[in-house]
Amino acid sequence: MRVVVTGAGGQTGSLVVKKLIEHGIETTAVVRSEVSKNKLANQLDAKTAVNIVLADVTNPETLRPVFVGMDACVIVTSSMPQLLKSSLLGVILAKIFTLGYVSKKPSFYFDEGQSPEIVDWLGQRSQIDAAKASGLKHVVLVSSMAGTKPDHFLNTQMENIVLWKRKAECYLVSSGLPYTIIHPGGLLPHFGDDKPAPGGRRMLYAAVDDSLMDDGQNHSQVPREDVAAVCVASLLEPQLSKGRSFDLGSGPDLGEPCNLSLKDLLEPLQGSNACYTKEQAEFKGSKKIRTCPCGEQ
Ligand SMILES: NC(=O)c1ccc[n+]([C@@H]2O[C@H](COP(=O)([O-])OP(=O)(O)OC[C@H]3O[C@@H](n4cnc5c(N)ncnc54)[C@H](OP(=O)(O)O)[C@@H]3O)[C@@H](O)[C@H]2O)c1
Repeated sequence: MRVVVTGAGGQTGSLVVKKLIEHGIETTAVVRSEVSKNKLANQLDAKTAVNIVLADVTNPETLRPVFVGMDACVIVTSSMPQLLKSSLLGVILAKIFTLGYVSKKPSFYFDEGQSPEIVDWLGQRSQIDAAKASGLKHVVLVSSMAGTKPDHFLNTQMENIVLWKRKAECYLVSSGLPYTIIHPGGLLPHFGDDKPAPGGRRMLYAAVDDSLMDDGQNHSQVPREDVAAVCVASLLEPQLSKGRSFDLGSGPDLGEPCNLSLKDLLEPLQGSNACYTKEQAEFKGSKKIRTCPCGEQ
């Protein structure tokens, strides 16, 4: 199997690359700059046979050639929110003046030309088109929880990032390409946390349509390494993973190895998948959309 990984210089993407190589899978890693290329090369063993190529998902011309001759891809690109430092003042003042009763969220911005609409929607659509043009047999897409929650902080403070990702998922589902879509919860380690979050030491949980965020079980976070492991397992067990779209969370670190079984992970879903609505597919940037599972609202 020949697999191309996009966003391969990112925190999760680089773990996907490492795991594919560990499994002896012929891997092409796609990064968008020489800086990312060097960063990834430094993380890999010098003897590792991996082809690192440059492409920018906002420029489809650079993207198409990297999909040619591949059997499958793992899409791990994402627009990258930057903290608007000035918004922290409002967060602190709200906390002080309301004695902690009102919590105000900080704001974020995106570099010019790198907004969620451009990277997560149009950039993913370009990747899906390239995958289709090259006849790939499996597309694994790493997206995010909160795709059914327009009022979630990720959407209200980050230019509807997950709603744009959800729109790209709808495009993939209707593309006719065999797919697996994974919606991780909060990725561990969190931003600024120096404590590592090793994979393979937690019970993993799958659900659909953000129920892990609301069930009070605290399973809506997951180590990046476990997300990477589920991506690779999905490629290795296509009979279990194709046509599936699910949320991925985890329990606490058990301090000992916890073997991943894709079959056991997906079994509790009893075949159910994320419910995509027409409104999600037609999202144009307005928050006023119905995202209720199965369109019941
Ligand atoms: N952070 C969370 O808590 C969280 C929660 C749920 C889901 N997710 C999702 O999980 C996935 C992995 O997250 P992560 O934090 O590991 O990712 P990350 O480190 O932010 O990596 C994102 C990657 O996308 C690449 N990228 C951005 N714009 C690009 C462009 N125009 N062309 C090509 N590549 C581009 C970046 O390239 P460079 O290396 O060149 O910058 C980077 O490698 C993302 O889809 C993210 O949205 C995150």
